[in-house]
Amino acid sequence: MIIAVDGPAASGKGTIARALARHYRLPHLDTGLLYRAVAATVIREEFDPSSETDAVSACSFDDYILEDVWLKSEEVGKVASMVSVHPLVRAALLLRQRKFAHQPGGAVLDGRDIGTVIAPDADVKLFVKATPMIRAQRRHMELRKQGILTSLDKVLTDIRARDERDARRSHSPMVPAPDALLLDTSFLSIEAAVQKAIGLVDGRMAQK
Ligand code: DC
Repeated sequence: MIIAVDGPAASGKGTIARALARHYRLPHLDTGLLYRAVAATVIREEFDPSSETDAVSACSFDDYILEDVWLKSEEVGKVASMVSVHPLVRAALLLRQRKFAHQPGGAVLDGRDIGTVIAPDADVKLFVKATPMIRAQRRHMELRKQGILTSLDKVLTDIRARDERDARRSHSPMVPAPDALLLDTSFLSIEAAVQKAIGLVDGRMAQK
């Protein structure tokens, strides 16, 4: 069984994908981490994220970088969104994601284009969303827990900019697949969102 979980930043898609992987005992890939690894390499090498040539040469990163907690930072997330607009960067990361999705037994992948590009044949596609304000509040709280003090306004502006870039890019933009099930987590606790996701997956599989 292949489960595709797409959606914008701080929608809850990562938490939901991890919980689904545990529940169905499937391996999980956070595909955003691959774009973040490219971004981290671009930053370290002082490359230009808006240059496709620079960004592509950062795609052959060493896998140990995927463990680096710095990858989760806002700085790296923003540059990840910038490098992910380049078609050659997306192409360089495509095979790895497709292979993961199509391994024997199946997998859960989360990202922006899993249901549309990486695994259009996924058995279940979820598109997780929440209002920009609620996502900003979640991210703001997370940052505060990490001791990073920034205004809610700034976080909201950053989230809107990232949505805009991820949804407007011409190559593999963030859009729900036509057959995706929408899951709005705006007013759901983590537990309720996970239960709803499991219900949607079970429901879709029962129709097969
Ligand atoms: O999910 P995330 O915040 O870790 O993703 C970081 C950026 O990577 C995101 O803003 C856009 C890009 N990305 C993408 O273009 N396609 C994916 N499948 C996953 C992430």
